[in-house]
Amino acid sequence: MFFSDKVVWIIGASEGIGRALALALEEEGARLAVSARGHARLEELVSELGGAPHLAAVCDVSSFESIQTAYRQVKSALGVPDIIVHCAGVYTPMYARELNLEVALSTMNINFASALKLLDVTLGDLRARASGHLVLVSSVAGYCGLPNSMAYGASKAALSNLAESLRIELAPEHITVQLVSPGFVKTRLTDTNPFPMPFIISAEDAAARMVAGMKTGRFEIHFPRRFSYFMKALRILPRPLFFWVTKWL
Ligand SMILES: NC(=O)c1ccc[n+]([C@@H]2O[C@H](COP(=O)([O-])OP(=O)(O)OC[C@H]3O[C@@H](n4cnc5c(N)ncnc54)[C@H](OP(=O)(O)O)[C@@H]3O)[C@@H](O)[C@H]2O)c1
Repeated sequence: MFFSDKVVWIIGASEGIGRALALALEEEGARLAVSARGHARLEELVSELGGAPHLAAVCDVSSFESIQTAYRQVKSALGVPDIIVHCAGVYTPMYARELNLEVALSTMNINFASALKLLDVTLGDLRARASGHLVLVSSVAGYCGLPNSMAYGASKAALSNLAESLRIELAPEHITVQLVSPGFVKTRLTDTNPFPMPFIISAEDAAARMVAGMKTGRFEIHFPRRFSYFMKALRILPRPLFFWVTKWL
C-alpha cells in the first residue's frame, strides 16, 4: 500500500538499478516518471511497465536546464512527485597517477552537483506542499577514500554528506530524505571491473532492498549487509590502521 498511486520520479532509470527499481515500484502500484539521457531505453521501459499511465522524460543531469525541463514535464503529466529518486551516476576507476581532469569533473557534476541542481528545481514545490520524499543513491565507496576511486569516491562522499544535511534540515518540513549505499551490483556500471567483486548482487535484488528500505523511512539503506558493514568498519578504524589495511586493496 505504501507506494499505491504515488508518483515516483526516478532519474537514472534507463539501466541497471534505476530500471529494476521502476519495475519493482510498478508492481507496488506506483505511477512512474522515468528519466535518463537515452530516450529509446526509457520508452522501452515505459512500454514494459504497462498499467497506470507512466512517463518517460529525457533528462541529462549534468545540465540544469535539462533537469528543469524534465521536471516541468513530470509535473504537468503526473503532478509534483511524491517521491524523487536520484539514481543517475557514472563510474570511471582512476588512480592519481592517471588523473583525467575532464572525466573527474564530469563525475563530480553527474554524481553530485546534479543533486544540488535537482534540489534547486524541486525543493520549492515540496516545501510549499509540506511533504516529500527524496532518495539519493550514493555508494559504500563514499564511506572512505579508497585507491583507484578518486573522482567516484569523492563524488559519493559529497552526496552522502549532502543527504545527512538535508535529512536534518528537511525533517521539520515533513520531507523525508534517505541515502542508499549499495555495495557491488551487477550492472553496466560494474561490468568492466576487472577484479572479483565481493558479495555482488543483481539489480533486481538491489531494487527489492530499496523498495523495502523506502517503506521504513530509515535514513540509510545499505546492502549487501556483509559488505556494507565491512566498509563501515573501515571508516571507524584508527587512521594508521585504516591506511595499513587499505594499502593491500
Ligand atoms: N552498480 C554498482 O555496483 C553500484 C554500487 C554503488 C552505487 N551505485 C550507484 O547506483 C546508481 C545506478 O548505477 P547502476 O549500477 O545502475 O549503473 P548503470 O546501469 O550504468 O545506470 C546508470 C543510470 O544513470 C543514467 N545516467 C548516467 N549519466 C546520466 C546523466 N548525465 N543524466 C541522466 N542520467 C544519467 C543512465 O542512463 P543514460 O546513460 O541513458 O543517461 C542509467 O540509467 C549510480 O548512482 C551508481 O553510482 C552502483
